[in-house]
Amino acid sequence: MKKFAKYPTHIAFIMDGNRRWAKRRGLTKYVGHEKGAERLVDIIKILSEIPEIKYASFFAFSTENWNREKKEVDAIFKLVTYMFENHEKEFKDINIKFVCMGDIKRFPTEMQEIIIKAVEESKNNTGLTVNLALNYGGRADIVNAVNKLIKNGAQSVTEEDISKNLYSYPAPDIDLLIRTSGEQRVSNFMLYQLAYSEFYFPKIHWPSFNKRQLNKALKIYSKRNRRFGGN
Ligand code: FPP
Repeated sequence: MKKFAKYPTHIAFIMDGNRRWAKRRGLTKYVGHEKGAERLVDIIKILSEIPEIKYASFFAFSTENWNREKKEVDAIFKLVTYMFENHEKEFKDINIKFVCMGDIKRFPTEMQEIIIKAVEESKNNTGLTVNLALNYGGRADIVNAVNKLIKNGAQSVTEEDISKNLYSYPAPDIDLLIRTSGEQRVSNFMLYQLAYSEFYFPKIHWPSFNKRQLNKALKIYSKRNRRFGGN
């Protein structure tokens, strides 16, 4: 059922505030990340039911997240692995196509294998494309694209060349970026793809972000007047 006059084709999320959500409730940060991972699965399912939305990108692990204590990093890795293993059938049934953005070579071998398998086995699915940013940085994404072009013999590059060599290709530029927890920063996420995006910064922490919140964001987006630098 179409509720709004327009929808983003590509929606992106910086899932922020897991630890603050937990701290406020007297829970450990691990529980915060666990709830965050559950929310991610919920939001993927909800988005898959909105046919106008074709691509969803999520910032799951940044290149800066390695600076956290090893125990926390390992806990996030476990959640990524768990998500793919335990929701495999569910994701398949709703026709999700997974794309991994970032350099996964630094991850534990088993985790790499699980990610590669999820991407490989879903590559012909025709539903929502989920771009999962894992060990991802927006500047590195651009540098990587340019280096690929140079390797293929390019003497100079166009904007379109770069777009076509980003991790998220063939997803178009992002229409709507949502960063939860009230922080109003891009934090090196998909810099090239965000050039003309609408931004929405709800105060709520990621583990509390639900269908109602998503609908609110979509409603706000549907009322935005996008001019792309024109009139
Ligand atoms: C931000 O909250 C969240 C992260 C750094 C990682 C995102 C991880 C998840 C949603 C869970 C696992 C991921 C997958 C793909 C299953 P924060 O830790 O920065 O919290 P804070 O801003 O309150 O400190």
